[in-house]
Amino acid sequence: MKLSLEVKAIIIGSIAGLTAVGIPFASGGMLQPKAASMSGATEGILVPAPGTQAREGYTLFQLNCAHCHGSDARGDEGPDLHGITRSAASISTLIRNGRKGEMPKFRDKLNDSQIKALVAFIKSMGD
Ligand code: HEC
Repeated sequence: MKLSLEVKAIIIGSIAGLTAVGIPFASGGMLQPKAASMSGATEGILVPAPGTQAREGYTLFQLNCAHCHGSDARGDEGPDLHGITRSAASISTLIRNGRKGEMPKFRDKLNDSQIKALVAFIKSMGD
């Protein structure tokens, strides 16, 4: 009897826990960039509107590129990517193939539509 009450309490407890975790998931919380990366680190960058190709690119950028180009894309180890004049084709070739000794290649890691999204994001940034 005592045991089954405990078991019940554990079950109820974990349902409550799951519900609490489930709320941010259900409200799309997981699709938004982390709150921490929205403040401070990404200050000075215009985050593209949710649901756009540029927004997907922004998210991919934070995951794959920000550690070199800065989370605000203002440059760190790699150059500032604001206002670059290269063509979309040239940017995607560079992302695909990288540059020896400078930048890794991403063709094995990112698919064409992800690379397109990154280009859209880079092109969406002003100066
Ligand atoms: C290991 C660090 C590193 C990573 C990771 C990295 N880059 Fe770079 N990137 C560089 C460096 C260094 C250069 C400059 C290369 C040169 O000029 O020869 C560069 C150059 C560029 C350029 C050309 C800039 C210009 O003005 O012509 C673009 C565009 C670019 N990176 C985009 C990206 C994107 C998008 C990603 C993520 C998918 C990425 N980079 C990941 C280091 C990095």
